[in-house]
Amino acid sequence: MSTNLSANTSSSIREAYKQFLNTEDGARAYERFKHILYGPDDSLIQILNNNVLQCLSSVSADVLRVCDIGGGDGKRIKRILGFLHQKFALRFNLDFVEQSSTLMRMADVHEIEAFTEVRKLETLFENADLRGGYDLVFLIHSIFAFQDGSATVDKVLSLPNSRGMIVAVSNAKDSFLGGLKELLDASYGDNRFEIADLMRILENRALPFRQIPFETRWAVRKEALVQETGAILNWLSLGRYEDLTDGRKGDVCQYIRENSLDLGQRIVFSEDEVIVLIWQPGQPNRSLGYSHFGRVPEVGRKE
Ligand SMILES: C[S@@+](CC[C@H](N)C(=O)[O-])C[C@H]1O[C@@H](n2cnc3c(N)ncnc32)[C@H](O)[C@@H]1O
Repeated sequence: MSTNLSANTSSSIREAYKQFLNTEDGARAYERFKHILYGPDDSLIQILNNNVLQCLSSVSADVLRVCDIGGGDGKRIKRILGFLHQKFALRFNLDFVEQSSTLMRMADVHEIEAFTEVRKLETLFENADLRGGYDLVFLIHSIFAFQDGSATVDKVLSLPNSRGMIVAVSNAKDSFLGGLKELLDASYGDNRFEIADLMRILENRALPFRQIPFETRWAVRKEALVQETGAILNWLSLGRYEDLTDGRKGDVCQYIRENSLDLGQRIVFSEDEVIVLIWQPGQPNRSLGYSHFGRVPEVGRKE
């Protein structure tokens, strides 16, 4: 694999992303990144659980069928199912799809096995043989390497049952990290599949969806700035930050300075993220199914 970012125009960011996540370095880089942005209690999962999934309390089935696409090391889906189990006494059938054998090895599901039947599928989602009929389908920061966006989205859309919900989480268009990715990915021959690409496909298909924006904020002490931004850049560049040209590194540093808040001892960062909820069009119980989300703040509702 080429390690020279400046001469990378023929290589694919989507392939590089999947390969990096299939290494110990990649798994560590992502874990470190998550810890910086979301903290040890994972603020993203707290938002999902408390602001979105809690509103599903009146789901009528006792056993929910769940699919987690690109589940990584499984920590997040364990937190989600643990929450729903403790709060609503639900049980689950989980299909856990992950292309990285490194991350799949780390995905220890024994903590949820008392209330969850788990089927692990170590494969690309595009190739996964899935049962369908799910109540919940999760895509948590896992759409970026979808190979053929449109066909892959069609496969995702085919998965929920008639009352089911797809829950996709990603950085928002024009977010802080979105801008960094643009700088870091410039020399690849393709782009990551982003949330705007997903929403464009949904709009073209006239499918109902709802966006729930949220903000992830974090701060670093000035003395740790180089180390912490280095960890973020290491993840976003897929371990190749050091291979960037000096000019590109200068652009990245300037971008970070211009898009953060210097409070003297600490530098504050903010990332705009979005939860996209997608459901089946024309389902008979739709008003019932979605009244649960009445309390969720929303923008850009489409129906
Ligand atoms: C950024 S990580 C997120 C992991 C987890 N959802 C989380 O939030 O911690 C993206 C994950 O999606 C997986 N992934 C990306 N594209 C995939 C695909 N086409 N099929 C299966 N897994 C995929 C990667 O291997 C990686 O584990």
